[in-house]
Amino acid sequence: MSTVSAASAREHRVTAPALRARKQRGERIAMLTAYDHAFAAIFEAAGIDVLLVGDSLGNTVQGLDTTLPVTLDETIYHTRLVARAARRALVVADLPFGSYQVSPEDAVRSAVRCVKEGGAQAVKLEGGTAVSGAIARIVAAEIPVMGHVGLTPQAVHRMGGHRVQGRGEEGRARVLADALAVEAAGAFAVVLEGMPAELGREVTAALAIPTIGIGAGVHCDGQVLVMHDLLGLGEWTPSFAKQYASLGALASQAARAFAEEVREAKFPGPEHSYR
Ligand code: KIV
Repeated sequence: MSTVSAASAREHRVTAPALRARKQRGERIAMLTAYDHAFAAIFEAAGIDVLLVGDSLGNTVQGLDTTLPVTLDETIYHTRLVARAARRALVVADLPFGSYQVSPEDAVRSAVRCVKEGGAQAVKLEGGTAVSGAIARIVAAEIPVMGHVGLTPQAVHRMGGHRVQGRGEEGRARVLADALAVEAAGAFAVVLEGMPAELGREVTAALAIPTIGIGAGVHCDGQVLVMHDLLGLGEWTPSFAKQYASLGALASQAARAFAEEVREAKFPGPEHSYR
């Protein structure tokens, strides 16, 4: 890329302040998870605004039951692959469990590594009032932070499973208080996960920063899906997610056709052979 076109790509880059400003204009935000260069390039070309290197990589890429074992080094590695493909989309690295809970200093160190070594332009972390100090410190270190409240998978053991949050008056008030704390701490956006659509609407109306929903109804300012759910690459699709393609079935069909042609000595044909 020439210096001029690199500069113009930078000018059109989705930024944290630009995403904040979209809420005032009523422009919705489309965010997808990505974990590697190939899919990040496809989503980038499709005009996705935000590429989230989610700690869901523990489930989708590593075959784990929870996101808890994902390490900061693994997050940084996958962020680097995604950042290499992103020209316009904002790249957000998801701070994994244990990388920000111990102290705000730890949180800043982890976030700095995601930016410096991974090429992220922002980080995301889970929790509300309990992590507001960590959010404020990361923001003070000039790194934009996306919050994440409601169903927070890193709290799977406290929640007793991946359970919808915010049902009942106490739950509703807790989710709202968490979202307000995240905003007050300086986050530029917040993910709302796994809550009644009506609460998604209420939190979205209460905040000046954009909300990005996953299983939180249509009233959020944006939506995020895990790419394996979007593309039908997982073993199942959660009820809140919409599968827009069946790539798993296509991949299986391709692998079967390849195996058959190898066994019947039909591949490689002359057109795939060197002379
Ligand atoms: O890790 C992840 O993919 C996420 C999204 C579900 C928001 O946090």
